[in-house]
Amino acid sequence: MDKFLIKGGKKLKGSIKVTSAKNAYLPILAGCILSEKPIVLTDCPKYIDIINMGKILENLGGKVKESDENLQIDCSSLTSSNIPQDLASVLRSSIFSLGSILGRFKRAKVAYPGGCEIGARPIDLHIKGLKALNVKIIDKHGYLTCDGRNMRGGRVNLDFPSVGATENIMLAAVLTKGETEIINAAKEPEIIDLANFLNSLGAKISGAGTSVIKITGVKKLNGGVYSPMPDRIIAGTYLIAGMMAGGNIQIENFRAEDNIALLEKVKKTACNIKLENDILTLKSDGRLKAINKIETSPYPGFPTDLQAQILALQSISKGTSMVVENLFESRFKHVPELVKMGAKISVKDRTAVVHGVEKLYGADVNATDLRGGVALVLAGLVAEGYTTVNNVRHIDRGYYQLENQLSSIGAEITRI
Ligand code: EPZ
Repeated sequence: MDKFLIKGGKKLKGSIKVTSAKNAYLPILAGCILSEKPIVLTDCPKYIDIINMGKILENLGGKVKESDENLQIDCSSLTSSNIPQDLASVLRSSIFSLGSILGRFKRAKVAYPGGCEIGARPIDLHIKGLKALNVKIIDKHGYLTCDGRNMRGGRVNLDFPSVGATENIMLAAVLTKGETEIINAAKEPEIIDLANFLNSLGAKISGAGTSVIKITGVKKLNGGVYSPMPDRIIAGTYLIAGMMAGGNIQIENFRAEDNIALLEKVKKTACNIKLENDILTLKSDGRLKAINKIETSPYPGFPTDLQAQILALQSISKGTSMVVENLFESRFKHVPELVKMGAKISVKDRTAVVHGVEKLYGADVNATDLRGGVALVLAGLVAEGYTTVNNVRHIDRGYYQLENQLSSIGAEITRI
């Protein structure tokens, strides 16, 4: 089981490039199931979740080939409409293959999805949405067996702007006859990217990025080439790393419009940030003022996927702050590990109260999920002495060779 060994205290310097977005690539890969023509996705990141999503497509009979950083996908001769437990259980995004498989085959049998241990991760909104398209669903023994022979466009009002449910319904509606309307849809940039990808293949989707998305079913999709957006969570992670460690870094592919909430919060922390043509320049002396309150909420609110990272930042910022996690009910598992390093954080229900400390101390800590694991790496960058982060497989799900990325801008971190 790989670990990261980090020697804290190094200032960061130099330029780092944000890679493609995991949470755009995953639904886009699911969307490839809808087309019988070849598709090329550029700059494919080698995150474990992406590799596992490729395995799901191959299990359906698709061909997935990597060629100099791009991914060539051919779903012309799919032979199955099933996703078995062993594949579905390794990642959450297996569930939105369901919408694509139904759109293509009008039938599907998929096992319940897996993913990070950050909460119950129910799929009731996915099921509600597919039923609105007249899909008959039998939910038994951890499998969803779906009959879509009489699918038609429909209207669904989501009780919560679920990212995955919005994507699943969109994917199911693209090849389904009639008009579909998703009300209270998620507005994340990855939703816009998925709609742009599908429209580039000939789909008819409008309103992505707003709370009402309309899809007019079409008969077939073409093939094509598409470049998914950069990963706004990785971009935010690098910004927070630079703020904590101090130094002077440039972050390429930092799209300001994807990180408005984070930029709004950090501009008050006395570090110097400049943004021009998607390149963010940060100068920080590592001495920061606490941000008094951060509450996660659906886009364009503060992203839950940056909650752990900004909590690590607050743990060394001067003053007291509150971080409220509104999206997932158990997304504070990184707190006990940060406390091992000397952080002063107390959690009650969904609120963490942080008293900033002068110094963190290197320790042996355990990654429990993707973003919680990264928060421990950020803390290790500034802690006195050595930090070992265990179970980095969680981190590899959404960052490719994070140790090399951070070493390239001066951090002392190796994989052991
Ligand atoms: C996506 O997960 C992301 N994953 C998550 O990123 C991200 O944290 C989340 O959206 C919120 O932005 C991918 O895109 C692969 P949701 P998803 O459905 O779709 C409740 C990361 O670190 N809900 O928007 O599963 C749910 O319990 C990962 O990259 C229902 O109640 O998130 C949660 O409280 C972690 N019923 C809230 O909605 C449902 O049917 C948000 O979930 C679905 C969701």
